[in-house]
Amino acid sequence: MSSREYILDSTSEPGREQLGSLPMLLDAPTREVLEGVGIQPGRRCLDIGAGDGSIARWLAERTGPAGGVVAVDVDTDHLVGRPGVEVLRHDINDGVPSGGPFDVIHARLVLLHLSRREEILNDLVEALAPGGWLVIGEYGDRLPYALSAASRADMETFDRIQHIGHHVIGAAAGQSIQWAHQVEAHMDASGLVDIHAIEHSHTSTGGGTGCLYHRSLIVQIEAPLLAAGVTADEFERYCDLLLDPRFRAWFYQFICTRGRKPLLAPTSR
Ligand SMILES: C[S@@+](CC[C@H](N)C(=O)[O-])C[C@H]1O[C@@H](n2cnc3c(N)ncnc32)[C@H](O)[C@@H]1O
Repeated sequence: MSSREYILDSTSEPGREQLGSLPMLLDAPTREVLEGVGIQPGRRCLDIGAGDGSIARWLAERTGPAGGVVAVDVDTDHLVGRPGVEVLRHDINDGVPSGGPFDVIHARLVLLHLSRREEILNDLVEALAPGGWLVIGEYGDRLPYALSAASRADMETFDRIQHIGHHVIGAAAGQSIQWAHQVEAHMDASGLVDIHAIEHSHTSTGGGTGCLYHRSLIVQIEAPLLAAGVTADEFERYCDLLLDPRFRAWFYQFICTRGRKPLLAPTSR
């Protein structure tokens, strides 16, 4: 099963490769934010769209045995648990799962795919315990772009396919790469306090984890790319570039934002 709006296929081989490389690429900055909110024994956590489960397992190591983590995904076959992690196959569009209120709710690279992202954020705030933290990590609108390749044409091919992948195919599917920049304001509007965000990025070389991630992602959307005007030669060149050690590009701009639910609900005047 997969969410209708999620255009990638986590059950495919490239889908699994993509999920498998995310921990290497993004767990360090994500953990930095989570460490800042104080993950302690006894805390109840919820991880939405948990992917391979790396963050859910990390949270469970720190919250157990008195606490625990509910790890939710529409595709749970690739979600590896451990003691303290309850794996739940669930579409977050259908509401926040029971087991709350939660002290920490984390969602990475999920809401940007979902058109009801604003309502879901409000639901997540509702499901927080007083004093609980919401942590949302998303890709920003500075798309990956080529820094060096064997030719200018190769650099243009990379940039063009990135552009079409996000601004044509992703946008048509309801994705938003502006959302990362709007999370702060939505947390504020929903009453969260102590809001803080970090931005993280790095360059990646052909054959390296970041480039292999791009490759596993793009092969999942080959058909829509070709339908959007990318030629078979361009597509093949793009895939080869990502294995070419002469190629270098910026990886995604990753923005991770946290906000805390006040201990006492604000009083109305
Ligand atoms: C890009 S992956 C990110 C995985 C993980 N959060 C990470 O960053 O490593 C998005 C994940 O969200 C899941 N997902 C997509 N739509 C969902 C939905 N409506 N409800 C729950 N999970 C969803 C996908 O199955 C996939 O595992």
